[in-house]
Amino acid sequence: MRIAVIGKGRVGTALAPNLAQAGHEVVYGVRDPADPKYAGGDGIPLKTTREAAEWAEIIIAAIMWEAVDGLLDECGDLSGKILIDCINPYDFMGGLKPLIDGNQSAAQLIAARTEAAVVKTLNQVGAPVMARARDYPIRPLQFVAADDEAAKRKVMSLLHDIGFDARDAGGLDYAADLEGMARLWIAQAFAHGMAPDTGWALIGPGEA
Ligand SMILES: NC(=O)c1ccc[n+]([C@@H]2O[C@H](COP(=O)([O-])OP(=O)(O)OC[C@H]3O[C@@H](n4cnc5c(N)ncnc54)[C@H](OP(=O)(O)O)[C@@H]3O)[C@@H](O)[C@H]2O)c1
Repeated sequence: MRIAVIGKGRVGTALAPNLAQAGHEVVYGVRDPADPKYAGGDGIPLKTTREAAEWAEIIIAAIMWEAVDGLLDECGDLSGKILIDCINPYDFMGGLKPLIDGNQSAAQLIAARTEAAVVKTLNQVGAPVMARARDYPIRPLQFVAADDEAAKRKVMSLLHDIGFDARDAGGLDYAADLEGMARLWIAQAFAHGMAPDTGWALIGPGEA
């Protein structure tokens, strides 16, 4: 699949090489591909955010919540595309206070602003897990929430390609729960000494 990873930050640079290694066509969408700060690294091509979004079938918004309005304005019409929302709308420097109304999720607010099929996932663990999910002895868990069932299946397949145990969380009304899982994970990593490469896993009585 053609995948645009928007944002060459921690999540973007964890996901893009893993997706490319899994055989997908991947580009970064950045504000200015000529800016030297984006040069070097993993050899994955750079496009402008707009060009990357136009080219891609799947767009991963690996940006902070505060940058969402700017991203959607830059991208224009995203009809027929899938937008993966990995955003956790919390104040990371301010006690993980929610940046949006507690009854809503970032995913639902984004879905109200775009024609793309919005899929919530890749928000529940830290970037180090996303980079190396296939190296774990048990596939790390990643729940997926979306209202568009076909889009959800495609994204679950993509997650499997990069090493995750992808599970259907239900419709986009479950996105808030996935954001809450992330808040718990972040609190564990920030304040309770949990290693940043720790993932979630589901286990049954017959499994090791
Ligand atoms: N870090 C984690 O472990 C982790 C885990 C799960 C989920 N998340 C979520 O993933 C998102 C990204 O986190 P991060 O840690 O990767 O953030 P980050 O390192 O700060 O990177 C964010 C990137 O977004 C770029 N950006 C902002 N607006 C853009 C636009 N319109 N077009 C292109 N690029 C744009 C920024 O580029 P500039 O340099 O040009 O500003 C920056 O490189 C956040 O919402 C976070 O909550 C993070």
